[in-house]
Amino acid sequence: MEFTIKTAPAEKVRTGLLVLAAFADGALPPSTQLADEASQGKLSALVASGELAAKPGATLLLHGVAGVVAERVLLVRLGKRETFADKPWRDALAAAAKAIADTLAKDAVVALDEAILPPDRDLPWALRQASRIVADGAYRFKAPRADKKEARAERKKHGAHKVAFLVADGDAACDEAVRQGEAIAAGMALAKTLGNLGANVCTPSYLADAARALAKEHPALAVDVLDRGDMEKLGMGALLAVARGARQSPRFIVLRYDGLSHGKTKDKSAKTKTHPVVLVGKGITFDSGGISIKPSADMDEMKYDMCGAASVIGVIAAIAQLRLPLDVVGLVPATENMPGGDATRPGDVVRSLSGQTIEIVNTDAEGRLILCDALTYAERFKPACVIDVATLTGACIVALGKIPSGLFANDDELADTLTRCGEDSGDRVWRLPLWDEYQDLLKSNFADMLNTGGRNGGASTAAVFLSRFAKSYKWAHLDIAGTAWISGENKGSTARPLPLLAEFLIERAAGRQ
Ligand code: BES
Ligand code: MN
Ligand code: ZN
Repeated sequence: MEFTIKTAPAEKVRTGLLVLAAFADGALPPSTQLADEASQGKLSALVASGELAAKPGATLLLHGVAGVVAERVLLVRLGKRETFADKPWRDALAAAAKAIADTLAKDAVVALDEAILPPDRDLPWALRQASRIVADGAYRFKAPRADKKEARAERKKHGAHKVAFLVADGDAACDEAVRQGEAIAAGMALAKTLGNLGANVCTPSYLADAARALAKEHPALAVDVLDRGDMEKLGMGALLAVARGARQSPRFIVLRYDGLSHGKTKDKSAKTKTHPVVLVGKGITFDSGGISIKPSADMDEMKYDMCGAASVIGVIAAIAQLRLPLDVVGLVPATENMPGGDATRPGDVVRSLSGQTIEIVNTDAEGRLILCDALTYAERFKPACVIDVATLTGACIVALGKIPSGLFANDDELADTLTRCGEDSGDRVWRLPLWDEYQDLLKSNFADMLNTGGRNGGASTAAVFLSRFAKSYKWAHLDIAGTAWISGENKGSTARPLPLLAEFLIERAAGRQ
């Protein structure tokens, strides 16, 4: 999809699909007003008649509106002006994105008047969000079906390929914002596809190949992939304990983006001085539970247990495309969690890379085992901060549902920044406690700690387990078990928390943190 910014009177815009907004009360926004006047009140009459439902995100598609040059007009409801906020704005944008993805029109124009900005939001914010939402709305997983040609032909018929945003007056910040939204959506598409692929395809080495392919595309990216032997040499006993039962061999992916130091070889000091942001993504390509095997209902969804990894790889793709002036390291411990004759048993004690020992009482609590070794590995980068992203606990879904991701942090400023970036990107998080009281639940008679603290407070006991490996830097943990994918009819990966991570990195690179 190709985005541009335009300034023109709405009624005169030549396009296949013109998207115009209407509040549930009060006057029409300026662009809608202009088109309404040109159509001699046709639009306002339809809005008043109730033909356009009052709910934010309700739409009405009109063909051949007299007086308006556009072939089609899509009216989108914004809800009430007095209660207008980010959510109804996003609902409206999502509805517009769906129409743009489904339309037979080849191009679309979306009017983004200042008058329809939510309180305290500016035009660059709106453009970054809108371009991301519209581009992401066009994502389709290429399912391997028998009737390839037919599916492809059908896909080709629908969806506008060119989208312009109509603004009162655009500047460089507006262009930049659109580029950011596009790059984020491209990263999301990669992350979604990695998540949606079955575990027979998306194996640890497939993830490593995806990282290698990215590194080939961008000169500021470099990738290093450790195999089982490398991990043994390092002493990653916790990660290897999870990999034991798997036929697929594990990988530890190190994806470096040197946005600050790349190309500045003259200033050698830059390379040594930078403290990168380190992102760690859980890469369990399939979580059967291991010997503590899961019930079979919905077990297919455990192919999504690498969505943390996918969002880390995807966000690095996005920032590399944007050439953000920032150093970032992505770490992806990747393995299957499978039962087998050589699999780890409940009761086994292993030594992690940090030297701390772990009594594995439940092999289904495997995410923290691979993450803890990655967190220790992260120390070598002298990170400015470390953020791990993991589909870690069912308990987090029970606590928060599928609305926010769970946030844990050993640093209030980092927690606050992530919370704000969540609000700004619409990819929200909610902070949960990381209190020492939870540590008591991990006491073991046979090792430094147990790998689970039981059912109660499961999201927090998992987080305090990780905190033992993240003492030497500022650290945040995002539990995305509830937010990384959608179940049911629209089953699929969401690419969350990629928009949040992108917001965090973009704002950081701009020095706004
Ligand atoms: N990958 C799961 C967590 C999960 C469950 C994500 C459901 C999404 C949906 C994780 O590895 C796991 O199995 N966690 C256990 C921990 C328990 C054994 C302490 C859980 O949450 O049940
Ligand atoms: Mn598990
Ligand atoms: Zn898991």
